[in-house]
Amino acid sequence: MLMTTDPGDLVLDPTCGSGTTAFVAEQWGRRWITTDTSRVALALARTRLMAGRFPAYLLRDSRDGAAKEGEITGRPPEGGAFRHDIRQGFVLERVPHVTLKSIANNAEIDVIHEKWAPQVEAARTALNAALGTTHEEWQVPRTLPDKAPKQAQEAHAAFWAARRGRQAEMDASIARNADVEFLHDRPYTKRNAVRVTGPFTVESLSPHRVLPADEEDEAVLAALAQDAGEAPPPPRHKLRIAPDTADDFVTVVLDNLAKAGVQNTRKDERLTFATLRSWPGGRHVSAEGEYEEAGARKRAAIVIGPEYGTVGTDLVREAARECRDWADAMVVCGFAFDPQVGDSTMNLGRLVVLKARMNQELRAAEAYKAGGGNLFVVFGEPDIALDQQDGGYVVRLRGVDIFDPTTGEVRSSTRVEDDIACWFIDTDYDGDSFFVRHAYFLGGKDPFDKLKTALKAEVDEEAWASLYRTESRPFAKPKSGRIAVKVINHYGDEAMRVFRP
Ligand SMILES: C[S@@+](CC[C@H](N)C(=O)[O-])C[C@H]1O[C@@H](n2cnc3c(N)ncnc32)[C@H](O)[C@@H]1O
Repeated sequence: MLMTTDPGDLVLDPTCGSGTTAFVAEQWGRRWITTDTSRVALALARTRLMAGRFPAYLLRDSRDGAAKEGEITGRPPEGGAFRHDIRQGFVLERVPHVTLKSIANNAEIDVIHEKWAPQVEAARTALNAALGTTHEEWQVPRTLPDKAPKQAQEAHAAFWAARRGRQAEMDASIARNADVEFLHDRPYTKRNAVRVTGPFTVESLSPHRVLPADEEDEAVLAALAQDAGEAPPPPRHKLRIAPDTADDFVTVVLDNLAKAGVQNTRKDERLTFATLRSWPGGRHVSAEGEYEEAGARKRAAIVIGPEYGTVGTDLVREAARECRDWADAMVVCGFAFDPQVGDSTMNLGRLVVLKARMNQELRAAEAYKAGGGNLFVVFGEPDIALDQQDGGYVVRLRGVDIFDPTTGEVRSSTRVEDDIACWFIDTDYDGDSFFVRHAYFLGGKDPFDKLKTALKAEVDEEAWASLYRTESRPFAKPKSGRIAVKVINHYGDEAMRVFRP
């Protein structure tokens, strides 16, 4: 990376693995993008980057950097407005280096050689005569044995004096005439500064993401079908949300669900099925389960999300339509949920909708025959309020609504810090991509101290307090008309609410 890129360059590693490329790019001030087919690889890389500490280097385009550069070169430091542009590079340790070309092309060296030749030759001839040898110039020894004859000692001394004199003149000539280049080494690090990774995002594609069907296309397709005397095709988005779930995967999930039940994040609060039968012919519903709740028999519809992909709102909505007449609860099992799904749960009339996050172990369920444990977990849904303040808005996290599978009741937890790790606001949401404009961090066991220890540095307590809160800073009315709030729990699950004030 150091050989082929400069600070500020963009480095791509399409096979992230444990994220070494991204880590090293971050370390050396390169920007980076990395991708992987494996969620595990991405999770590892993310943690590694977020927990990493990097040296802070002196930027050339900074006051400190310019001062250091001046100190090294002996030139007065550059002044002016510093932009901290990393593309200008770092201030580097360096050594001067004479270019070979400038030595090879220096004609003065030949002149010096000629000038000293008689002296060197005379001394060499005298030495060979005294010793009875035939040494060429390059064969003359550095030292003579003590017992060598006096004449030989004198010729030897004269030879080396001439050689040194010639070399000194050549060196002086090279120094006078040669081009000097600098060989660069490591950047100077700023003392007393710790750098953490710059901001980055982690994105994943959901193969089940539903694009709004193009109404015009559908009208055309319907007209064509009518002309051909055929039934009109089903709306396209319906085709797209059909889970591409393999039968054996469904079987594995149902087997484990029957054994493990569904629990929330509290101990002893578990929904256990008395019976669990497959539901043939269901479009989205795979099984029907019976469970007991406060002494009464209840029926649950089981919906299994895609083996590779994310559960979206359409799947939840359409599955609810399929079972709301006969089920008391609908358990939607998924490895991941679109953040928007939270918006649609728990308010589909009488039907209680439970998002049950499946443990990744289920993918390897054959290997883990044992099952049990926390394979299906329901998380709380954040209770968020949007309040008007000074002509703008403030968002408040009031708590987390937790479903108790043993009573069927939803109760509100009020220690938000225990249930939520961080939350973000897009104060001007465009309805498509969530842009983090406010970020807040919670966490029960004093994350401030943890941060201080992790950074081995002092953290500005006031700055920290502005981030550690359940009530946002006030912000202006959104131009887009939409405000989105994303809440992430300690397990990394996301929920999102959109407000249209
Ligand atoms: C040996 S690791 C890569 C190590 C990393 N490039 C480095 O230099 O430290 C190989 C990674 O490639 C990923 N991989 C395999 N096939 C892939 C594909 N078709 N597209 C993207 N990633 C893939 C694997 O999941 C694995 O994490």
